[in-house]
Amino acid sequence: MHERLPDGGVIRKLWMAEAAKYRDHLLRLDPNSRRNRFAGVVSDSFIANYVALSIDLDGIIHGYFVAGVLRGAAELRPLGSELAREAEAAFSIEKPWQSLGVGSALLSRTLLAARNRGIGLLHMACLADNRRMQQLAHKFDAELTFDFGSVVGEVEAPHPTPVSMLREIVADSHGFATAMLDVQARLLRSA
Ligand SMILES: CC(C)(COP(=O)(O)OP(=O)(O)OC[C@H]1O[C@@H](n2cnc3c(N)ncnc32)[C@H](O)[C@@H]1OP(=O)(O)O)[C@@H](O)C(=O)NCCC(=O)NCCS
Repeated sequence: MHERLPDGGVIRKLWMAEAAKYRDHLLRLDPNSRRNRFAGVVSDSFIANYVALSIDLDGIIHGYFVAGVLRGAAELRPLGSELAREAEAAFSIEKPWQSLGVGSALLSRTLLAARNRGIGLLHMACLADNRRMQQLAHKFDAELTFDFGSVVGEVEAPHPTPVSMLREIVADSHGFATAMLDVQARLLRSA
C-alpha cells in the first residue's frame, strides 16, 4: 500500500473542504488530458460547476499530492440506487506526472474502495482512442473486462473482507497523517 510514488507524492482521500484544490487541478490539465478526462471538450466554467456538484458525500475522490499540491485524482461515484452496486470511475493526472505509475496507484486504491462498498460493477468513462487509460485498465485484467469505447470493469470480489477494510483504513491514516504534516508545514512557513 505504501507504494513509492514520483516526487515523494502521497495518495489520500480528498475532504469536502478541498473543492478548490480539485477545481484548480482539473483546470491545470492540458487540453488533451482535459478532453480525455471529460470525454469531450469542456470549458473552465463547466469544470467549476462540475466540481461544485461532484464534491459531496456520495463520491470518493483519491488525490495524489506533491508538496501539498493536488497533481492527480481518481473519482469513484456510485450510480443509481444503493442496491444497484454500480459506480463510475474517472481519472486525471497532470501531464508532468503521467506515465510514472500514479494512475496505476490511484486505480488500485479506487478498486479497494469500490470493493469495500460492495460495488460489483465499475464503469470507466473513457474515449475509444485513449490507449493509455485502456492499457492501465488492462493491468487490472483479472478485475476488469472491456466494452466498446468505454471501459466497463467488474470488481472481482464484491464483498469486503476484514483485510481489505484494514488496508483502506491503514491507507487513510497514512494519508491523514501526511495531510496533517502538510498543514503544519504550511503553518510554519506562514508564521
Ligand atoms: C490515463 C491516465 C489516468 C493514466 O495514468 P498514468 O499515471 O499516466 O498511467 P501509469 O503510469 O500508471 O501507466 C499505466 C499503464 O499505461 C501504459 N502507458 C503508460 N504510459 C503510456 C503511454 N505514454 N502511451 C501508452 N501507454 C502508456 C502502460 O501500460 C502503463 O503500465 P506499466 O507502466 O505497468 O507498463 C493519465 O495519463 C491521465 O490522467 N490522462 C489524462 C486524463 C485521462 O485520460 N483520463 C482517463 C479517462 S477517465
